Amino acid sequence: MAKKYVCEAASVQDTVAFAEALAAQAGPGAVLALDGDLGAGKTRFAQAFAAALGVTDVVNSPTYTIIKEYEGGKLPFYHMDVYRLSLEEADELGLDEYFHGSGVTLVEWASIIAPLLPEERLRVRIETTGPDSRRFVCEPVGAAYERWCEKLALPAYEGEGDDA
Ligand SMILES: Nc1ncnc2c1ncn2[C@@H]1O[C@H](COP(=O)(O)OP(=O)(O)O)[C@@H](O)[C@H]1O
Ligand SMILES: [Mg+2]
Repeated sequence: MAKKYVCEAASVQDTVAFAEALAAQAGPGAVLALDGDLGAGKTRFAQAFAAALGVTDVVNSPTYTIIKEYEGGKLPFYHMDVYRLSLEEADELGLDEYFHGSGVTLVEWASIIAPLLPEERLRVRIETTGPDSRRFVCEPVGAAYERWCEKLALPAYEGEGDDA
């Protein structure tokens, strides 16, 4: 199992700073696979990530649209929410086009479609640790994402749980 890292956010502002730091590492074909309960902050994180890429459009939850594409930033931003999809339905959407496209893909509820995701990705599990605090547990899969975490100098995560 890959090494895990952690970012403790005491506020939305910390979440925004973390998203900005990750966005600074992102290049074409990057994939962020997010998990965490309803209200954990997946969409809030995605909004900050998109803003950091230079996306000026309003980024809403794509729960009903499944996929939204944003141009205009330094890279295209593909925002997915697969909460309402079955693995079979997701398989028919041809998601590989996004994963291997010229932009960055961020998937909310990524574990639902785990078999369809590229092997190399940054897995991020968001835990609610208080009204305004969140824990981001990051599991980089692949050398590129290992480097992201090293560049951010994130502390190692020593906690339990084998899903990122
Ligand atoms: N540190 C934090 N990071 C992210 N969101 C936070 C934080 N503290 C409070 N929140 C709030 O939690 C909510 C997260 O909602 P949302 O991003 O839609 O969750 P999800 O997409 O995981 O269901 C937002 O209302 C956000 O303002
Ligand atoms: Mg959401």
